[in-house]
Amino acid sequence: MAKARLLIAAGADLTVVVSEAAEDLIALEANQGFRIERRSFRELDVYGMSIVIGATGIDAVDRQIARAAEEYRVPVNIVDRPELSTFIVPSIVDRGPVTVAVSSDGASPVLARRLREKIETLLPANLGRLADFLRSFRSAVKAKIGSFEDRRRFWEEVLDGQIARDVLAGHESRAREAMVSIINRPLSNHNNSPALLGGHVTIVGAGPGDPELLTIKALRALQDADVVIHDRLVGAGILDLARRDAQRIYVGKAMSNHSVPQEGINDLLIAHARAGKRVVRLKGGDPFVFGRGGEELEALRAANVETSIVPGITAATGCAASAGLPLTHRDHASAVTFVTGHGVDGEPDVDWQALAQPRHTAVVYMGLSRAGALAANLIAHGRSPDTPVAIIENGTRKNERVLTGTLSTIPDIVRTARVGAPALIVIGEVAALADAALGHVARAEAQAS
Ligand SMILES: C[S@@+](CC[C@H](N)C(=O)[O-])C[C@H]1O[C@@H](n2cnc3c(N)ncnc32)[C@H](O)[C@@H]1O
Repeated sequence: MAKARLLIAAGADLTVVVSEAAEDLIALEANQGFRIERRSFRELDVYGMSIVIGATGIDAVDRQIARAAEEYRVPVNIVDRPELSTFIVPSIVDRGPVTVAVSSDGASPVLARRLREKIETLLPANLGRLADFLRSFRSAVKAKIGSFEDRRRFWEEVLDGQIARDVLAGHESRAREAMVSIINRPLSNHNNSPALLGGHVTIVGAGPGDPELLTIKALRALQDADVVIHDRLVGAGILDLARRDAQRIYVGKAMSNHSVPQEGINDLLIAHARAGKRVVRLKGGDPFVFGRGGEELEALRAANVETSIVPGITAATGCAASAGLPLTHRDHASAVTFVTGHGVDGEPDVDWQALAQPRHTAVVYMGLSRAGALAANLIAHGRSPDTPVAIIENGTRKNERVLTGTLSTIPDIVRTARVGAPALIVIGEVAALADAALGHVARAEAQAS
């Protein structure tokens, strides 16, 4: 059935000989207009055909098909029977007009399929659209840029740049406008400038630590980057995914130790983009959740630097999943608030009254150093001192610890278990669901006693 569909898509004039046609084949026949002959196989069926595919799964019939094809000198493929076949059908990744074929020469169709699945995840869904888009500009570019070398360089820059990214992201009209404007530039720009298309910054969320929690988009941006400007919170193993020759610049910040001030980071991003580089600004978690990604985006926009954002798994959702702790639950919590334990001037700007409501989960980022004050404020605004609490240290990483207790015991937990950054405090009924079965949940109260 899958082969019939692929052959029709490739423009084949198809005849299917089958004693009993399955429903999906009948539906395909109705839509596509090929022939189904409802009977058993005859040797003359192969006569005059360009290729023959045997898929009966019945040994005697498959052999009969192979013999007939040999006699009439028609290339034949018997599914899963390389010894009876004169050609093999590779697994394909189809992003029309781009096709990638994977073959194990019949040695292991399952292995070929696995590889194909891997390639599927690597290739963007809109790759075919990108190919069509590029094709639509081929003759215009050829007419404009005479030298083969210059043309090759031009296409490479288009593929590496914002235009290709826009098409892949579905912003085709924007990409078309940019392409037309570049093609219409005076010729000297094409020939003399090494950077036809300028640089670009992608602000990428690296997730809470586990490299496998990166999105496919984040991975692609990393592998594409000339320069990676990264934070302290970016987990080990993630930077290794960047190209080996990419320049890595550390601008990490600890709370009281700003290694590069924010303005310095903004300037660095702008300078590298203006030098025509593909820059990845790699930030822990999600760039727009307590990550100052918004400030960086504003600075880049003000400097007219092309910028895109790749979201990441924020610490709250990453840690909650890792600890088996749902942030909302029909029986325990109908709302969740992400809150910082540390405001611009120290004291966080928090609506304690709202946060103290029952059936409400509060996830506190950067809350370790003010854990005691935080608990006291919530209790003062009416939250029960017995409200369950989970503290997740190094969430999703190999050295993750989950400590559970109650609102009144938070300061003891932090002190006794010597909790260190990065850590997240989850307050609310759901914290009692932290998954002890995962094996890494420490009972801080038990430890303390
Ligand atoms: C400056 S904020 C950055 C948050 C980040 N943008 C995000 O979306 O997760 C840093 C705080 O995030 C929390 N955090 C980040 N990664 C964490 C992890 N792997 N485990 C626990 N907490 C984490 C900690 O509360 C830490 O102090």
